[in-house]
Amino acid sequence: MTFRTLDQAGALSAKRVLVRVDFNVPMQDGRITDDTRLRAALPTIRLLAERGAKVALLAHFDRPKGKRVPTMSLRPIVDPLSGLLGQTVAFADDCVGAEAKSAVDRLKPGGVALLENVRFHAGEEANEPAFARELAANGDLYVNDAFSAAHRAHASTEGVAHLLPAYAGLAMQRELEQLERVLGKPRRPLMGIVGGAKISTKLDLLKTLVTRLDRLAIGGGLANTFLLAQGWAIGASHAEKAMAQTAREIEHIAKRNHCELLLPTDVLVATSLEPGAPTFVRRHGEVRDDERILDAGPETLATLIRTLNNTETLIWNGPLGVFETPPFDRGTVGTAKAAAALTREAKLLSVAGGGDTVAALNAAGVAGDFTFVSAAGGAFLEWMAGKILPGVAALEPTEVKVTG
Ligand code: 3PG
Repeated sequence: MTFRTLDQAGALSAKRVLVRVDFNVPMQDGRITDDTRLRAALPTIRLLAERGAKVALLAHFDRPKGKRVPTMSLRPIVDPLSGLLGQTVAFADDCVGAEAKSAVDRLKPGGVALLENVRFHAGEEANEPAFARELAANGDLYVNDAFSAAHRAHASTEGVAHLLPAYAGLAMQRELEQLERVLGKPRRPLMGIVGGAKISTKLDLLKTLVTRLDRLAIGGGLANTFLLAQGWAIGASHAEKAMAQTAREIEHIAKRNHCELLLPTDVLVATSLEPGAPTFVRRHGEVRDDERILDAGPETLATLIRTLNNTETLIWNGPLGVFETPPFDRGTVGTAKAAAALTREAKLLSVAGGGDTVAALNAAGVAGDFTFVSAAGGAFLEWMAGKILPGVAALEPTEVKVTG
């Protein structure tokens, strides 16, 4: 995939540059609990500021569905971002209209402003041309540095890129180059691990992924749907019952494409997530009605580690259990440590992506050992499944810009 990069952007002094970043960070009580995505945006912001641009940051937070939801404001990002950047970041209460215009107009060359959540406007997710034009009105150039939102064809990730000269930011460029380097022509066997709780969005992607992978391990909430499809009783566990047929279809496609599917053979259950609640290892037919599957079991973990030892390249998205609450972190942490050790010994190329996955690797202290850690979850999986990412496609050099 080809895309325009910042070194092709020419003189930037006093130019207004709209930069789409992904500040969809984990937040608790108005405080950021992991600032990886803020840090990822710093090199691009700094480069533009150093070259004298007026930097206006566009971002979304959560899913306010076109309404102004005060708890989904980007305002709590301002102070941490100013701290990381080492300069005061201005804030505009709206991403379009008079508020946004005056915040951008007030910027001096090298200044930075964060504009309020683009998803407060319905036109963002609908990719309405009129809304994209309103966004574009505050920029001379557009830079997309949000690879993790590039699978969304929204006004701030796609629409506006057709209205202004558009470039990939440094983080976006790095993500695409690294993914291509490690996974463009992967060393085989190529193994995927997909877990996490966002079931319906991932299931469809698995249909394509199993045609590209040699083996796929399924864990976390996602695995429950497959276990259900195999006739397990899963008690009070989270699962998409309506998706059991899709799970069976994926098993079928995997078999046809010689992709080995690894499902849990045992699981760790509890009736609650309270600290000290008793836990039990259960197998097929043993999960009781009031029990929830909260992690992979020890046999499943051992199988995963054994399989990793015979794998050349690993892609991983989504934790295998409720890793935030020990002891349900054992499956995720055990797998992460095994993959990290093999990577350190140069026996494995490992790529992990997704907010929760990165947080789990950080918690296990092994993020630095992976070959590459992507900030993206959904976008990473879609890239891997060979889908066109609208946010990247809009940065293609052949794109004709409508200016004026
Ligand atoms: C993410 O957090 O994965 C991206 O910011 C995309 O968010 P979305 O799934 O709400 O579009």
